[in-house]
Amino acid sequence: MLEVHELQVVYPNGNEALKSISLSAQRGEIIAIIGRSGAGKSTLLRCINGLQRATRGSITLDGEVITRLNETQLRLARRYIGFIWQEYNLVERLSALTNVLTGRLAYNNPLASFVGYFGREHRDIALKSLDRMNMLPRASFRADRLSGGEKQRVAIARAIAQEPKILLADEPVASLDPELSVQVMSDLARVARDVGVLTLINIHDVELAKQYADRLIGVAQGIIVFDGPPAQLDEATMDRIYRFDKDKKKHPAEAPEPHGFGAAQPVLSQ
Ligand SMILES: Nc1ncnc2c1ncn2[C@@H]1O[C@H](COP(=O)(O)OP(=O)(O)O)[C@@H](O)[C@H]1O
Ligand SMILES: [Mg+2]
Repeated sequence: MLEVHELQVVYPNGNEALKSISLSAQRGEIIAIIGRSGAGKSTLLRCINGLQRATRGSITLDGEVITRLNETQLRLARRYIGFIWQEYNLVERLSALTNVLTGRLAYNNPLASFVGYFGREHRDIALKSLDRMNMLPRASFRADRLSGGEKQRVAIARAIAQEPKILLADEPVASLDPELSVQVMSDLARVARDVGVLTLINIHDVELAKQYADRLIGVAQGIIVFDGPPAQLDEATMDRIYRFDKDKKKHPAEAPEPHGFGAAQPVLSQ
């Protein structure tokens, strides 16, 4: 379903955010990508939906080589790629339902969309998606009237309404308090399982990752240092994923400063 082969990303400033990432994933899997800030998690997700170009390597999604598509082809491909952002990215002045309907834009007649018309089939899919996230009672609420947790549930409903081949979530609960984080992660995992969509979630909270994902991928300094089920994530593995932090705390003067890391370098994530 998803094949990432020796993916490398070097930013124009020379930052090598991804060194060589290879992974394959199947329909229905729920994968959490963990790693410290600056590890390359966002860069990886942005490459999969084509917002970031790869320097080298390839990404194939359901037989389509994403890394070879031009901008027009990428726009079409993104119809099948659901994306969930940390800051929700809703249109604040529109209702929850209309926000979810934007997930149907690529399927709707462009002229109909232009005048804000979505046919019965699209409305049914949008309402069902809201219902899956227990947000049906909020369908007519303007997005700016919703709480953070509700906004993220609407954003998840919008991504699901796309009927995506893959669902990508970049730190989906990082803006929510701990209790809400658990609820929204649990809802996200449940709906992903219900519809059987391959889901990749960037998340820095390891406990949440272990609780809701079938598989964890640990990224450190642009490479995969762990790929396996949560039960295999032991202390030694945690060290490999987060070791750089620990080294730095223990030996601030001697700690190596690999390219693109270190406190002096601003982290341009998200
Ligand atoms: N647009 C950019 N230009 C240059 N460097 C970037 C850019 N975006 C991210 N980086 C750098 O690439 C590395 C990986 O960043 P990112 O993918 O955001 O990591 P994460 O999501 O794991 O925090 C970091 O060193 C970061 O500073
Ligand atoms: Mg990030």
